[in-house]
Amino acid sequence: MPDAYILGIESSCDETAAAVVRSGEQVISNVVASQFATHQPYGGVVPELASREHLRAIVPVVRKALADAKHTYASVDAIAVTQGPGLAGALLVGISYAKALAFALDKPLIAVNHLEGHIHAVLLEERQKGNHELVFPVLALVVSGGHTHLYLAEQKDAGWTYENIGHTRDDAAGEAFDKVAKLLGLGYPGGPVIDRLAPHGNPGTVKFPPAQIKHRDRRERRHGKGETDNHRPRFDFSYSGIKTAVLRYVETHNMRSAIETRSKALARIAKAKIDDYLANCDKLTLDLVASFQRAMVEDLVGKTLAAARAYDVATLFVTGGVAANNELRQTFERDGAKEGVPVYFPSRPLSTDNAAMIAAAAYPKFLAKDWAAMDFSAEASLILR
Ligand code: KG4
Ligand code: ZN
Repeated sequence: MPDAYILGIESSCDETAAAVVRSGEQVISNVVASQFATHQPYGGVVPELASREHLRAIVPVVRKALADAKHTYASVDAIAVTQGPGLAGALLVGISYAKALAFALDKPLIAVNHLEGHIHAVLLEERQKGNHELVFPVLALVVSGGHTHLYLAEQKDAGWTYENIGHTRDDAAGEAFDKVAKLLGLGYPGGPVIDRLAPHGNPGTVKFPPAQIKHRDRRERRHGKGETDNHRPRFDFSYSGIKTAVLRYVETHNMRSAIETRSKALARIAKAKIDDYLANCDKLTLDLVASFQRAMVEDLVGKTLAAARAYDVATLFVTGGVAANNELRQTFERDGAKEGVPVYFPSRPLSTDNAAMIAAAAYPKFLAKDWAAMDFSAEASLILR
């Protein structure tokens, strides 16, 4: 099988990204342009601004990915692009550009599910390290700003199939990190800041009650309570309760004015560093941050390992933006080892949104000649199966 060089393009949220990956196993180039500065003043991603920023960045980002890889538009074998899920307007920028390139260059076009991309970030890096021996069944936790999903992943011939056995009923885990950080005046995005502040607080200070899943969701109305479409056990998540509990703690401990002061002080610093955050956080805040992160990590790890036991999986993948979290990684490694299940993560740059994962997920489709039709469009709620 000759090598295939795939140009990946990703624009589903607030990162414009392009990458060249060889045969799903080697990152040749990987360029990510973050829109952090655009959205930061709003404390979250503004969809309209995201589309405009993608439009500005897409051409230079793809050019740089090709130049870094010492490739040209003509020398790549296929173009892969994220179809969804994500912000429709943002996705359309990447898709329109990828279609134009494929049409003008007469190259095959491959549509990729963003969530499948996150899973393939792990596979890509394991292959890059020379690890080609993957033991099935594989359970993948995709945990990011928009998603908290558990998938059983299977390889059939060259292609992959996925069965969802758990999802969040309300907020995604990354969304909870972002909302809690915003609530505490720590800015946006919250995950990386909370990650760095948590070791400076006492995680045993605030006890959060375990997440309770009260209402039945759409799938359960069709099938049994706590069951998948195939009548197998589900492991769902819920993070809006912990966010409300943090809010209540802030109110009962009169933290409002300190939060406002901190928020203003941090807004005056162009690129705040950990010492700037620490200088503006009291012990009460640091303890709350540490306790919040501990509760999030225990819930994510606890449910994922319970699912791993129920489905008797041999291998765990943990991927998506929140997989960059230090305490989450350490806890998964420690508790996974106790259960005898190896846990694989992508490196931190490939945990958050990037296009190398899109180019890697496209490779099995390239082998199967699974081309996208020229009239395919963005799907904001694309399901992975
Ligand atoms: O995968 P990603 O880049 O974009 C989405 O597909 O959503 O994930 C972004 C999310 C944000 O919510 C961000 O706060 C969170 O991942 N995140 C983290 C960390 N780094 C990013 N959460 C916890 N700890 C981190 N170190
Ligand atoms: Zn993502």
